Amino acid sequence: MSHSAPGHTAVLLEEAVAALAIRADGVYMDLTYGRGGHSRAILERLGPAGRLIALDRDPQAVAAGREIRDPRFSIAHAPFSEIAQVLDRANAAQVHGVLADLGVSSPQLEDPERGFSFRADGPLDMRMDPTRGVSAADWLAAATEQQIREAIGGYGEERFAKQVAKAIVDARAREPLLRTEQLAAVVAAAVRTREAGQNPATRTFQALRILVNRELEEVALMLPQATRRLAPQGRLAVISFHSLEDRLVKRFLKACSADSLPADLPIRARDLPQPPLTLVGRAQRASDAEVAANPRARSATLRAAERTTAALDASILQRAFSEHGPDAWRS
Ligand SMILES: C[S@@+](CC[C@H](N)C(=O)[O-])C[C@H]1O[C@@H](n2cnc3c(N)ncnc32)[C@H](O)[C@@H]1O
Repeated sequence: MSHSAPGHTAVLLEEAVAALAIRADGVYMDLTYGRGGHSRAILERLGPAGRLIALDRDPQAVAAGREIRDPRFSIAHAPFSEIAQVLDRANAAQVHGVLADLGVSSPQLEDPERGFSFRADGPLDMRMDPTRGVSAADWLAAATEQQIREAIGGYGEERFAKQVAKAIVDARAREPLLRTEQLAAVVAAAVRTREAGQNPATRTFQALRILVNRELEEVALMLPQATRRLAPQGRLAVISFHSLEDRLVKRFLKACSADSLPADLPIRARDLPQPPLTLVGRAQRASDAEVAANPRARSATLRAAERTTAALDASILQRAFSEHGPDAWRS
């Protein structure tokens, strides 16, 4: 069966499904249904008693998922920061595997009406879930120059954040910034040096997308819930597409696994408290062949871990997220 569902080619498909070590009668979650490439591959490996609970915050993805007629499958419209509620509604106390394939889907990127792309003109929206939250245009209309500069510098790692923020504030004083093409032109005029092969608006658009969708907050809320709901030996697999979210995933997995203990501790391994997760292999990147066939795979990183029986207590979360301050993702 092909997993290139119409409009979206699943990235690191075999690797992610292998990392889940699927048992035929298990209960699995696909937190980012998209167009269902990973979901279909999971369903193929489940027996009649298996279950797959999918979700997506994008109503279009959920509508696509509702076309799957399979009694083992269900899909909910929810952000993955609400895993606990989705599982409660599905009467599933524990699951045997959770997959998150972060970021945006090709149908979202390619539809100018969604406002994600600087390549085609459309409304400056960028919300994965247009039924909630604030669009990029509304945020840009209300934010201060400093907020804009911090967002573009922090989430976009744009060297010219100061210049871009000033250009945006000057432009919006002349006319409201409502279209992707308008914003792309304002940014292009403010970014003085070009990165090879990259549109000057790339970093600003990435920053606004992360901000409008609260992408890092969503991941930070999702990881502990997913871990807590995993049955012992259950697997967590996360594919990230930009360094800020990968850093968050890496820090969390490290804090939750023995990997975070200094190698020179004067204690025997068996005397240490058991960590809630064990890392499964190293971070994986897409093969050259996959990147050649699907350039979107170029920036993908897969990380996986297995649940132990140990509790995920608050001190671990503190180590994962707050030790570095609320802005850990910046460092
Ligand atoms: C990279 S695509 C997933 C593609 C999918 N694995 C496939 O094979 O078709 C990411 C999807 O996750 C969804 N998504 C991103 N962040 C989300 C969040 N915080 N909660 C729920 N869904 C989210 C997006 O709407 C998008 O449909």
